[in-house]
Amino acid sequence: MTTGSLLAADLVIAVLAAGGWLGGGAASAARRRPLALALAAFALLATLARAVTITALARTGWWFAAEKVLIAAPLSLAAVAVAGPRLLRAAGDIRSVAVPLLFAGYAQSSALLVTLLHGYPASAGVGLLAVAGVLAATAVSWLALGARPSRTVSRAALGVAVAALVTGTGLVVAPAAAPGVPHDHEYLDGRTVGEPTRRFTLTAATATVRAGGRDVAAWAFNAQVPGPELTATIGDVIEVTLRNRDIAKGVTLHWHGYDVPNSQDGVPGVTQAAVRPGQEFVYRFRADQVGTYWYHTHSVSDVGVRMGLYGVLVVRPTPVTGVDVTVPVHTLAGVALPEPRTEPVEAGVPVRLRLINTDSTTHRYALAGTPFRVSAIDGSDLHGPTPLVDTAVLIPAGGRYDLVFTAPATPVALFVDGRAVYSTGPVSAATSAWPVLDPLTYGGASAVPWSRFDREFTLVLDRGLDLRGLLPRYAHTVNGAADPDIPPQVVRLGDAVKFTIVNRSQIVHPWHLHGHHVLVLSRNDRRATGSPLWWDSFDVRPGDVWEVAFRADNPGMWANHCHNLAHAEAGMTLHLMYS
Ligand code: C2O
Ligand code: CU
Repeated sequence: MTTGSLLAADLVIAVLAAGGWLGGGAASAARRRPLALALAAFALLATLARAVTITALARTGWWFAAEKVLIAAPLSLAAVAVAGPRLLRAAGDIRSVAVPLLFAGYAQSSALLVTLLHGYPASAGVGLLAVAGVLAATAVSWLALGARPSRTVSRAALGVAVAALVTGTGLVVAPAAAPGVPHDHEYLDGRTVGEPTRRFTLTAATATVRAGGRDVAAWAFNAQVPGPELTATIGDVIEVTLRNRDIAKGVTLHWHGYDVPNSQDGVPGVTQAAVRPGQEFVYRFRADQVGTYWYHTHSVSDVGVRMGLYGVLVVRPTPVTGVDVTVPVHTLAGVALPEPRTEPVEAGVPVRLRLINTDSTTHRYALAGTPFRVSAIDGSDLHGPTPLVDTAVLIPAGGRYDLVFTAPATPVALFVDGRAVYSTGPVSAATSAWPVLDPLTYGGASAVPWSRFDREFTLVLDRGLDLRGLLPRYAHTVNGAADPDIPPQVVRLGDAVKFTIVNRSQIVHPWHLHGHHVLVLSRNDRRATGSPLWWDSFDVRPGDVWEVAFRADNPGMWANHCHNLAHAEAGMTLHLMYS
């Protein structure tokens, strides 16, 4: 069983246990004896089963089980200890066990709420709050059932509630107060880039574009979605003038995967102010990384990118020989882009397909009709990629894969989630059962550049209640906190830095660090044994634990966030900062 399914199973069992106890309590209050006994027996079994799931989770990693061991387990024990013996003695009026059963139900429910609303790390305040909730609910039920709650229970409830409030509930207090991120601060990185050799102008504006045979309202660069393809040759100095005609939420340009100087990174409120309607901003950087990249607005990025403010950036080593095609995949108003395209390619010609996922969720790509190699991921060339046949690749949100092959005499087609988007002729292939490439074991290994790290950080990804803003929200959290309250990670220039990224939640989080490429060390305790992978975007699936490392060689203040952009906007953003 994977950790992801173990997390899900534990959650389901916890819900069943809570439901069983509560149902049993209600049934006994209604004097439905057989039903009450059946539900209580079921709840007892479910509660005991959690001992197994919680132990298994604790063994895969403390991050997955902390609050379950510290809060849910003691509450479950209390539930069983209180309800169990009374059930055995319930020979007379079944109604006499209603309160003990309800108590057990509240205990299970409040532990469940701790997991759903708070998660990792557990704190004493949260534990006390959970206990106070259980006692208060029990006292209320007692009253409602016509009995008087015992003095001890009422006093205990009050005492615990006060203690919870005094210690801080942990729901409203971040694990450590975050030193403020200096917003609207201009970072001066003082690098001279030289005279521009490639100049572009991108004008952002609302537009109506054709997609899937209909007119779609979009936000577009130069009235097209995707925006113009920006190309350069290594060594070029790129200058892009960004203008905003009428995008009220503001626009910036972020060069996804391009490790530009910090002042050119395009993150509003961190490296620049958003460009408002009527304003402009000029970006300038040297094209010193070859490969496949993309650009997108970073201002209200969830909406902006989805509406169409993105495009391709390709830097080539030398002028192209052979066929070189970019395939930026995007979902615009429900229409899957790009439109399918067919062009014959003469046999023997080298072809490079640059696959780009500009959506917020993973896509599956399958190239049928030819052996191919994955020659680069996220712009970085792989070492010794071997030929693949009938193998699919999964590209995370924001990620890029370059597939290369020599055109055969017969047609070739690229399918994205089963839809042909590029082909050299008619191909019919069932690709859905193909195995998926694991890049961590693909290609030839080479030595890891570091054996020790100057800084190590752990990011535990989850969901939780964020009560810090004006309105409470169910945020996507990192270490129990949501943006802007997640403490920045502070490094020094030259540090070797290691991140451990843990996903406790039930959804995929495509992780993306700005300004640096990280080297993948391991996933779920298994070392990466293939080609070194220098990534800027990778899927951390439910239950995954990734270890990645990088050299702190690009000073500034860098966003570090989930590239499911709705998650990033809903809290899952922090910053890497140089001291
Ligand atoms: Cu492509 Cu901060 O994002
Ligand atoms: Cu996410």
